[in-house]
Amino acid sequence: MLRRTLMAASRSTGVRKAVETVPVSRRVVARFIAGTRTEDALHAARHLMAEGFAVSLDRLGENTRDRAGAEAARTACTDLLQALARTGLAARTEISVKLSALGQLLPRDGQRTALDNARAVCEAARAAGTTVTLDMEDHTTTDSTLAVARALREDFPDLGVVLQAALLRTEGDCRDLAGPGSRVRLCKGAYDEPASVAHRTRRETDLAYVRCLGILMAGRGYPMVATHDPRLIRITKTLALGHGRAPGAYEHQMLYGIRPEEQLRLAAAGETVRIYVPYGDDWYGYFMRRLAERPANLVFFLRALATR
Ligand code: FDA
Repeated sequence: MLRRTLMAASRSTGVRKAVETVPVSRRVVARFIAGTRTEDALHAARHLMAEGFAVSLDRLGENTRDRAGAEAARTACTDLLQALARTGLAARTEISVKLSALGQLLPRDGQRTALDNARAVCEAARAAGTTVTLDMEDHTTTDSTLAVARALREDFPDLGVVLQAALLRTEGDCRDLAGPGSRVRLCKGAYDEPASVAHRTRRETDLAYVRCLGILMAGRGYPMVATHDPRLIRITKTLALGHGRAPGAYEHQMLYGIRPEEQLRLAAAGETVRIYVPYGDDWYGYFMRRLAERPANLVFFLRALATR
């Protein structure tokens, strides 16, 4: 119930204005977001790489409603990629991109616009010596995102794509995408989806995650295991061993600021661990999804409000 309310708030312009103007928000938000400027993102990437992590940078932004906004998002990504190349960070830092930021939801030619913009981003990533992963948004965008991914993978076979275990369709998508060279990031799914398309309980989603991960581990691609869930992390090890995959033949991925001790523990144990680092001004949707995942975060936020 609380999760559903927070997810509804994440789509409300009124709540957005209220949260963004509360002065304390930025302090609380800093727990999950590396900063607002490109330099902040580069600083975080450098720091994480020094600790032995790989990184995926996400310049926050989603649901762009006009062509100019989509072009601005593309330019921000290509500028970031050039900065990664200049600073020598591209070797272990890729970028994550939301197609809705690149124009996917435009009323006319949205998918084509997102594909063209994403292609420009992939070209810039190749020039920089790194890769791109397409984030996955709510289920109304899944077909379109996978169609864009398929088209891009013809020219950029190292393109990564996210699949969400919560969706009923995802085992099938894992089978389709488990082929040689494919990079699939498996997560539980951060959106409030209807029962017609998604598992509605934590237990069902977790069981689906294990089945999906089994398919990816058995396949010939590169599974990117995006979860902080201790049980799923243990199961990952068992599945990897069962399928003869050593660390480096798959990777763990976690979000900036979430379970940092576990991130360090896995890296110290020799696992490849990539930290997903969001940055930028457009933090509201991302922040609200993190609040919705964990009621304790909401308490933390409210306590900070009360003590300001
Ligand atoms: P779960 O929610 O069960 O959490 C397990 C444990 O992790 C919790 O008990 C707690 O300790 C900790 N934890 C989890 N979330 C926390 C939070 N917000 N604050 C504090 N602690 C928390 N989703 C999506 O729909 N599309 C996408 O493209 C992506 N991309 C993505 C990339 C990466 C690298 C990660 C790690 C995750 C995503 N996600 C995502 C988000 C994902 O779908 C999911 O919502 C979160 O990862 C939380 O689910 P867990 O698997 O961590 O399990």
